[in-house]
Amino acid sequence: RVPAGSRDRAAQVRAGRCVLAGQNQILNPKDGQRLSVSRPRRSVLFVPGNKARMLEKARTLPADAVILDLEDGVPPGEKAAARAMVRQALESGSYGPQVILRINAPSTGLAEADLREAFAGGVAAVCLPKAETPDDVEQLASLLASLEREQGLAVGTVGILLMVETARGVLNAYELAMAGAEQGGPRVQALCLGGEDLAWDLGAVRTKQGAEIAQARAQMVLAARAAGSVAIDTVYTDLADLEGLQAEARQARELGCSGKLLIHPAQIEPVHQAFAPSEEEVAHARRVLEAFEEAGTRGAGVIALVGQMIDAPVVARAREVLRLASST
Ligand code: COA
Ligand code: MG
Repeated sequence: RVPAGSRDRAAQVRAGRCVLAGQNQILNPKDGQRLSVSRPRRSVLFVPGNKARMLEKARTLPADAVILDLEDGVPPGEKAAARAMVRQALESGSYGPQVILRINAPSTGLAEADLREAFAGGVAAVCLPKAETPDDVEQLASLLASLEREQGLAVGTVGILLMVETARGVLNAYELAMAGAEQGGPRVQALCLGGEDLAWDLGAVRTKQGAEIAQARAQMVLAARAAGSVAIDTVYTDLADLEGLQAEARQARELGCSGKLLIHPAQIEPVHQAFAPSEEEVAHARRVLEAFEEAGTRGAGVIALVGQMIDAPVVARAREVLRLASST
């Protein structure tokens, strides 16, 4: 029997207990089983918590998720007002997109009051910025557990998204993604890259090509996937350049990210397109599955399709492409 410890995912995989997860699927790090994810998070839009108009507008936007923000989208003098505005927005009607609440960083001393004052029903997950140590995550997880008990929710109901946006955060990304599981099951649902903060912390120059954050992006994907969660790419700050945004989103998808952080409603549609498989991908996936099924009837495991090898992971990816294509 494979022990169900949190570090045993590799053993689970070897024991065949772990399903191959698609890009949007989250695995339970305890037993490697797929968690039910109600919906994908391709587009995750920041909405400043101090902007009434935007909080209102966000209710009906076609984003998969919105992050009602108390951190860097809100100036220091407006933090308290923003908490009240976010709570009121949550209590005064439902949101079409899934709602995520971003609190302030652990080091600010604001995080606990943010949660106590702004959290309300309808929040699916809390986003923790500048996460650096597993302890940051454990503390948030235990705060969430007590909030959940107070509100009569099952412990573990509210997920955690972590912003990976400091050098330490990148180096600890796997430990961060694995943390918080003791209290109410796997909490961390995604790692999100914060490219602007990271470039600042690295002393790097932030460029459009993004070479300065490329390693961190790849490391975030590795850490998130090893921990059974998903990776969400950084914001694209040039609001006028929707083509550039879409190209960056495609690249993020190719690297294994399941979505992208956004800052403006106009960015939603291009990003949805970028995360949808292209027509060529879908056509290729169909051919792969047909060839594979045909080979199965002949008892062959590895086959070639017009000169390309097809084996189990190729087939799994083809199935995932068709699943994505039919769900988007
Ligand atoms: N969420 C919800 N609605 C938004 C929005 C957002 N992030 N950004 C813009 N909108 C709304 C505007 O309110 C406006 O709605 P209206 O015409 O019905 O009044 C509409 O979308 C068009 O907005 P536009 O005029 O093009 O932009 P703007 O000048 O009002 O705002 C920004 C531009 C960059 C200030 C704004 O998009 C923003 O604050 N984005 C979030 C930035 C952020 O959170 N940064 C921190 C995390 S990285
Ligand atoms: Mg940030």
